[in-house]
Formats: sequence, structure tokens, C-alpha cells
Amino acid sequence: MKSNARKVLGICLLFFLFVPQGAGAAGKKGLLVHNSVYGSTIETAYWVKALIGYENKLDVMALPQVITIEPYDYVIIGSLTRDEKPTEDVYAFVERFRKELSQKQVCYYLTCGDTDETMILNIPGKKAHLIGGRNYLFDILETIPEVKPVVIGGFGGRQVMPTLNTSDSFRVWLVGKLAKEGAAWEGLDIWESLVPQRVEAFANEVRGKILGLGPREDAEQFRHFWQTLQPASLDDPAKKKYNPRKYTEHHSTDKILYVRSRMPGDLAAGKALIETWSKVHGFSLKEQKSTFYNTYYHAVKKYDAGELALHVVAATLPEDPGNVHFSFRNYDKPDKREKLEKDLQKARERINASGTVAE
Ligand SMILES: Cc1cc2nc3c(=O)[nH]c(=O)nc-3n(C[C@H](O)[C@H](O)[C@H](O)COP(=O)(O)O)c2cc1C
Repeated sequence: MKSNARKVLGICLLFFLFVPQGAGAAGKKGLLVHNSVYGSTIETAYWVKALIGYENKLDVMALPQVITIEPYDYVIIGSLTRDEKPTEDVYAFVERFRKELSQKQVCYYLTCGDTDETMILNIPGKKAHLIGGRNYLFDILETIPEVKPVVIGGFGGRQVMPTLNTSDSFRVWLVGKLAKEGAAWEGLDIWESLVPQRVEAFANEVRGKILGLGPREDAEQFRHFWQTLQPASLDDPAKKKYNPRKYTEHHSTDKILYVRSRMPGDLAAGKALIETWSKVHGFSLKEQKSTFYNTYYHAVKKYDAGELALHVVAATLPEDPGNVHFSFRNYDKPDKREKLEKDLQKARERINASGTVAE
């Protein structure tokens, strides 16, 4: 009996030593600081907290409430997106705690309108560039390089048109007018772009990389933090708040030739396909930007009509694991780009030959 009791005691001790015990095992204290104007970033903050688990210490605060970050082992910084960046207040916060943040585990997440991380924005006065989701963090990562986030997220958000102030309303209208690929929010009172799987993937990464915990298998039960009964439009009940961008698309207009596609594989497979296709069809491929989840190229080729550039992006998205996505864009006039369009068709054939993915 005595030796049995000792055995049981020993097993219990081993269990406590080696099995993760939530906050007890990791013992890390976190701060989630949010900066929001219209509420989405706050909603996602409490959603992330729930996903990380109430048993794990995580203070959630608005940016002006933070007087010190000293007590915390890790800091999650959540911001809305303005002009393709986190807000000025978020920059000021990171600058203020620059030294301490560079010595702590930091995570960044953004709520934003555009979530497609293969998206290129080409508007007058600016060089065409990569935007959407996590891409809106490029600037803060370059400006404050000592702060190296261990987890990043670009969730999407919610825009409630009638509540926008006059200046914001005007700016949103202007962006819609400049958009070459349409404005998803037009005609809606509430427009949503948030991808729930991204919030869940972000929180699971925090659990894994910072707290040493496994991913939540029951993440979907927390989507109520986001869901609302309010309709997309007060005038038209048929309209939807959330219209995800299609993974497979081809449109050719006066303003743009745009192709979106995907295949099974990872980013390395996507890049290999683009590199082979460009070599075979005589493009010179110039890498513009590369991250762990996407790569943006200019594929340039000389035709009779002159030198034409195709903007190509290969990307993996948190909500679609196991697949790699592509976008191709050209902004020349249709009569000039005829031959380019044929070369692009060959890229599509290669992608399709690599295995199609059900929509
Ligand atoms: C004036 C203005 C500028 C914006 N600029 C961008 C932008 O550059 N890129 C983007 O994807 N979303 C942009 N958005 C969308 C917001 O980032 C998005 O709706 C966000 O979820 C709002 O967060 P909040 O509800 O916490 O304020 C903009 C919204 C407004 C009103």
C-alpha cells in the first residue's frame, strides 16, 4: 500500500512538472493595448483575450490608459489602419516604450478594410505597392526595427458608414472613386472584411509562441465577440455585410488586367512556379518585397508595344492553410497588353496543372 501511494504521488508530481498548466505553466503576464476610433479594434481585443484564455493573465487597455509596460512579459499592440499604416498614436506608443518593447515579446495586429495580402494599390502620385492585412505593418517594422514582433495579424474590420465623421466619410468615398477594382463598401451601411480564422490563428500563435500552450480546438465558440444582428443595409435586406474577395478571378477592363488564382502548396512552391514561368516566357523577374508569407515581383518583358510590367504576388493566407495564392496585375491599355495577356494565360495553365482547389 505504502509503495502504491508513493507511486501515485510520484506520477502526480511528474504531471505537474511536465504537463502545461495554462497560466501556471507559462506564468507570463500580458498586456493588450488597443487603439480604435469606431470600435472594431476593441471588439477584436476582447475576442483575442477570450481565445488566449481567461486563465492566462492578459490586461486589455486603451492606449491612453497605459502608464507603464514594466509589469508585463509580453505586449500585444492592436491598431486600426489609416493611410496604410497603424495610427500615429500607435507609432508614438511604440516610440515611447521603444527600449522596453525591444526586450519583450511583442505582437502586432491590425484591423483594416482590405485583407487581401496579394493586393497591389496603384493610385496617382504613388508607385504601385503591396497593401492589405499584415502588409500594413511594413512601415512600422522598418521605422522601428528594434521592436521585432513574434506574431503579427491583419484581421480586417467593420466600417459603419453612417457613423463616420465628415472627414473620414469623404476620405472613404475618395478611396472608392480611385479603386480600380471596385469598392466593396459601396451601397452598404455596414461593411465587414474581417476574417475570423485570422483572429483565431493569431491567438493560437500567441498561445504557442509565447505561452507554450497548444492551439484552441474550440475557437469557433468565441465568434460571438464579432457577430451582430444588424443588417448590412437598412434599405435592402438582400445585401450582405461580408463579401469575401474571390480566390479565382479574371477581369480585363480599360483600367486593369487582373487575375487571381491559387493552388495547393506553400510559398516556396508558389515562388518556384513564378520563377519557372518567367524564365520560360522571357520575363525578367524583379523582387520588390518579400516576407515569410508573401513575395511581390515585377515581371518585365519587351513586346512590340514596348516594355510592359506585370505585378505578381504569391502569398499564403492564414485562413487557407495548404494553398498558395497568386495575383497578377497590369495597368496598360488593352490593345497594348494583348501579348502579355497570352503569356499570363500560360501562368494560369501552370497553376491549374498543379492541382485545382475547390472554391
Ligand atoms: C479615413 C479612413 C482611412 C482608412 N484607411 C485604410 C487603409 O489605408 N487601409 C485599409 O485597409 N483600411 C483603411 N480604413 C479602414 C479601417 O482601418 C477599418 O475600418 C478599421 O477596422 C477601423 O477600426 P476601428 O473600428 O477600431 O476604428 C480606413 C478607414 C477610414 C475611416
